[in-house]
Amino acid sequence: HSPGETPRDNRTINYLRISVTDRCNLACRYCVPKQDLPFVTHADVARYEELLTIVEAAAELGITKIRITGGEPLVRKGLFGFIKNLSDVPGIEDIAITTNGVLLEKNMDALVASGVRRLNISLDTLSPEIFKQITGKDRHAKVWRGIMAAHDRGIAPIKLNMVPLRGINEDDIEKMARLVLSYPFHVRFIEYMPMGNSGVTMDQQMLIPEISARVEAALGSLTPMGKGKHDGPARRFTAKHALGEIGFISPVSSHFCHQCNRLRLTSTGMLRPCLLHNYETDILSIVRNGGTCDDIKSVILETIANKPLQHSLGEKAPEKINSQMFTIGG
Ligand code: GTP
Ligand code: 5AD
Repeated sequence: HSPGETPRDNRTINYLRISVTDRCNLACRYCVPKQDLPFVTHADVARYEELLTIVEAAAELGITKIRITGGEPLVRKGLFGFIKNLSDVPGIEDIAITTNGVLLEKNMDALVASGVRRLNISLDTLSPEIFKQITGKDRHAKVWRGIMAAHDRGIAPIKLNMVPLRGINEDDIEKMARLVLSYPFHVRFIEYMPMGNSGVTMDQQMLIPEISARVEAALGSLTPMGKGKHDGPARRFTAKHALGEIGFISPVSSHFCHQCNRLRLTSTGMLRPCLLHNYETDILSIVRNGGTCDDIKSVILETIANKPLQHSLGEKAPEKINSQMFTIGG
């Protein structure tokens, strides 16, 4: 097997998601657990130099695409300097960020200068009141200004992520879908993934068949788009008169594990082959103990070799995930 391929089913691993911090300036109910958990201490968070060392090794094994996640990545100081350094790593072709948008307007110049051109922004509602219910904070206007600032600066595509929850933001499904008639955004609907005791109950979970029916009621019938080479987990659709597109992400009702191309690095430097499995390797310790590039590469290959064929969400007794979404990075 060539480096960067899983041994059992030849999935090509070319995408690394890096959670640069577990801290966040929002507290979304689908992400944050009910009980207070301690934040990771400063010393346990992987430093930018350490992350770069890992990325250099990963790039030698075929990683070409990086997505920066959190917590909220824009709360970490020095992020855009780090992104610039990442873009200088030979082999790294594409760097994207997933953000909640709160600090976007303020950071737009730095973001554009850093070379990031692809932005995913969480937006669960168009209502300031419901935004506050979901996130715990009154920041809807700020997020919307951030989205508009990114749009005005020519960032494209801008992908908007909505996690529809029954009885909470479900009436926003149609409104969010209609955004594609006015803007070139990719509006994506994501099934809630139950992990670690969040404030969402299972009867609030909505699955894509129900969500997509509501989207079609708003936009008319949807036309599937061909699969692009760099497509992620979203199934993509166009609609009549749409400037943007619709995406459905269905980790629960129709998982995409067979085409998963990802590894993840948590904010504490654990390398995970799957969001929804507890297997992880402590790659940061290898770096901190003076491991060579070859040592780091062998840990990466071992992690790829242990990538599960598929996750167990949606089955009767899913594995209990020990780590939280905000540490792993979604
Ligand atoms: P691109 O394809 O690069 O645009 O990224 P993406 O759509 O994977 O990234 P984003 O950070 O916007 O994540 C969208 C949703 O997909 C989130 O709810 C993620 O938790 C979920 N997701 C992303 N990658 C995986 C994965 O490997 N497995 C599962 N189960 N969910 C994922
Ligand atoms: N289930 C599904 N999506 C989630 N996200 C965060 N927590 C969950 C969850 N439990 C989404 C956010 C963000 C993306 C990175 O992950 O909406 O846009």
